[in-house]
Amino acid sequence: MRSIVKKSFMALTGIGLLGFLIAHLSGNLLIYAGPEKFNHYAEFLEANPLLVPAEIGLLVLFFYHIYLAITLTRENEAARPIPYQQRKTNGESTFASRTMIYTGTIILAFVIVHVYMFKFGAKKNNGQMVLWELVVENFKNPLVVAWYVIAMITLGFHLSHGTSSVLQSLGIIKSDWRGGSRTIGAIIGWAIAIGFALMPIYVIVVKPTGAPAFATSASSASALPAAAVPNEAGQPK
Ligand code: HEM
Repeated sequence: MRSIVKKSFMALTGIGLLGFLIAHLSGNLLIYAGPEKFNHYAEFLEANPLLVPAEIGLLVLFFYHIYLAITLTRENEAARPIPYQQRKTNGESTFASRTMIYTGTIILAFVIVHVYMFKFGAKKNNGQMVLWELVVENFKNPLVVAWYVIAMITLGFHLSHGTSSVLQSLGIIKSDWRGGSRTIGAIIGWAIAIGFALMPIYVIVVKPTGAPAFATSASSASALPAAAVPNEAGQPK
């Protein structure tokens, strides 16, 4: 496949992933609304018959995006006459554009840990959805919050350049207005990254209640005690 075609697919898969992130960020805003609303939303998603096809689609997009990134990076390396470190940038490249493969790798690591933590974490207790409690319990751990903030800074750089490239390669913004696509890319990329980063920061700073007071350390979130089950009045026992 020619590089130009690969770049177009890279842009298209990037748009799909950006769409997921915007939907995910919007849904996650319910964290601020408390356990009842957030857990209700999680149950609603789980009951939706479109969830599994959407997850498969997301997985395909994600891995195809990574495959294209690796092959394009290899092709660029092979076509480059002098090593990258010795080249002077001509003003066309930015820190974000030069580090896409590295920020992408950190995001991949983040997603693996993140999905393991929440998607496959102990989000049910005796059949009761306790996803809000699981998220809040994990975000009480400063190491988890630090990792999330670092990962979201990485995401900010990646999305800024990715969105700017999409705007250019799909011709949404004219190629002679590079500054414009960079600015819009940075606004969209950093808005999403900061939106996500504020969630763990909110939990560790505000310490929202409504979560059952787990007696043990944050790492015990995967084994929620029976006290996590709210009683009929919706209050933790
Ligand atoms: C810090 C903010 C974030 C919070 C609070 C959060 C929360 C969650 C939760 C609770 C789930 C489990 C949903 C469920 O099982 O019903 C989930 C799943 C997931 N998250 Fe996040 N997330 C955040 C950021 C991100 C970011 C930045 C990415 C990607 C770069 C991401 C990618 C995913 C993916 C791929 C899934 C699995 C979706 C599925 O299979 O349905 N999340 N997230």
